[in-house]
Amino acid sequence: MAIYPGSFDPPTNGHLDLIQRGSKIFEELVVAILRNPEKSPMFSLAERLEMLRQLTADLSNVRIDTFDGLMVEYAKSIDAMCVLRGIRAVSDYEYELQMALLNRKIEPTLETVFMMPADKYSYVSSRLVREVAQAGGPVKGLVPEIVEHKLREKVDPAYKLQATRLVEVSRKRKKKA
Ligand code: PNS
Repeated sequence: MAIYPGSFDPPTNGHLDLIQRGSKIFEELVVAILRNPEKSPMFSLAERLEMLRQLTADLSNVRIDTFDGLMVEYAKSIDAMCVLRGIRAVSDYEYELQMALLNRKIEPTLETVFMMPADKYSYVSSRLVREVAQAGGPVKGLVPEIVEHKLREKVDPAYKLQATRLVEVSRKRKKKA
């Protein structure tokens, strides 16, 4: 079993690509969302859990969980043997190497495995997606459609209201017909 830890604030197409690749290699893959009360995330833990659950519903060997504290301790507690992390570009490598080596120092039995997401997602990050969305820019193609809607709801509450109204109108029309 492997774990794929991260903040997933929000999940991107790059994350999903890695989850799909990981699910083909590992018998079981646990996507583990860090509960981090220090950072103030854009999406609550419950929202991130729900999005990731929906996005991985078709992958039977993938489950979503949350963790707090040291990642290696959580990994040990669920008997995971591997940590999966994605490397997009050389710039990711330094930080990832540092984390992998420090994690190995704390827990030598846990191996970190790096995989590369599809190159078309090599520039996609949650931070930049948040920035673009908050500035009202397009995030189509960077995140799954359900995340795109959630982002729009966050930055534009009127969008949510509009979407709810559209559903109501179409329900009323169906009733009449
Ligand atoms: O998606 P992210 O934010 O790059 O993920 C980073 C994450 C969650 C994998 C990392 O910050 C982490 O493992 N945090 C838990 C605390 C911990 O174990 N820190 C030591 C890392 S060497």
